[in-house]
Amino acid sequence: MQDLFSVRDKVVHVCGGSRGIGRAIAMAFHEAGARVIVSARNREALAATGLEFEVCDIADSAQIRRCVDNIVARHGRLDVLFNVAGINYRHAAETYPEERLDDILAVNLRGNYLMAQACGRVMIGQGGGKIINVASLHSHFSLAGMAPYGASKGAIAAMTRALAVEWARYNIQVNAIAPGFIQTDLNRALWEQEEIRRWALERTPAGRLGVPEDLVGVAIFLASAASDYMTGQVLYVDGGLTAGQTWPLKVPR
Ligand code: NAI
Repeated sequence: MQDLFSVRDKVVHVCGGSRGIGRAIAMAFHEAGARVIVSARNREALAATGLEFEVCDIADSAQIRRCVDNIVARHGRLDVLFNVAGINYRHAAETYPEERLDDILAVNLRGNYLMAQACGRVMIGQGGGKIINVASLHSHFSLAGMAPYGASKGAIAAMTRALAVEWARYNIQVNAIAPGFIQTDLNRALWEQEEIRRWALERTPAGRLGVPEDLVGVAIFLASAASDYMTGQVLYVDGGLTAGQTWPLKVPR
C-alpha cells in the first residue's frame, strides 16, 4: 500500500519552484526520495533551495527547450512535471494595461503550455508520465480586478482536460490542483489587510487561510501510481470554499 503513493527515485521537475507553492512541493518531494529539479528565473532564489536547479524564464520558448533538454541529459528521463509558475496583476478590467495582459498570458498560458509540451514530448518517448498544472479558484468563479488572470486560469483548466484526452493513449496523466487562498509572497500584502483577511476567513468553511504545505498531499497523490486512472481533473484544495458557504442561520442543535 505504501508503494502506491511512492515518489521515490522519480525525476520531478517543479517549474516555479523557487518559492511559495512550488518550493513547498519541491521540498516535500525531495524528502520523499524523489530526484527534484526546480526551475524559475532567479538564480539566487533557486540556489537557496539547496536543490538541483535550472534557470528558466517560461516566457521564452528557447529557455524552456534548454531547461528540459538539460534535465533529460542529466537524468535520462522525466517522470513528473509540476507546472506551477504563474503571475498576477490586479487592475480594473476597463483600463487593464495591455502589456500586463500580455505578460500574464505569456507566463500563465503560453509558458505553461510550452512547458507541458516540451515535457510531454519526453514522456511520450519514454512511455508515460504525470503533468500537474496549477489552476485557481478563478478557474471556477471570478473576483473583481483579475480578468486576465481569471482568463489564464480558466484556460489552464481547459488545457488540463485537452492534454489529458490527447495524451491518455501515451500513459500520461494530466491533472490540475486549484488552490484556495494560500498565503505566499504572491499575495502577502493582500492578506495583511485586515478587512480582506476577515472577508476570506468568513468564506472559507475551514476557518483559516491555507499554507503551501496544504497542497503537498494532493501533489503526492497526483504524482504517484495512486492516481494512474485519473486524468483531466481539477482538484480544489480550498478549505471548502467552492463547496459552499456557512451562514448566520441558527439551526437547532
Ligand atoms: P509565488 O509568486 O510565490 O511563486 C511563483 C513562482 O513562479 C516563483 O518560483 C516564480 O519565480 C515563478 N515564476 C514566475 N514567473 C516565471 C517565469 N516567467 N518563468 C519561470 N518561473 C516563473 O506564487 P505562488 O502563490 O506560490 O503561486 C504559484 C502558482 O499557484 C501560480 O500559478 C498561482 O497563480 C497559483 N495560485 C496561487 C494561489 C495562492 O493563493 N497563492 C491561489 C491559486 C493559484
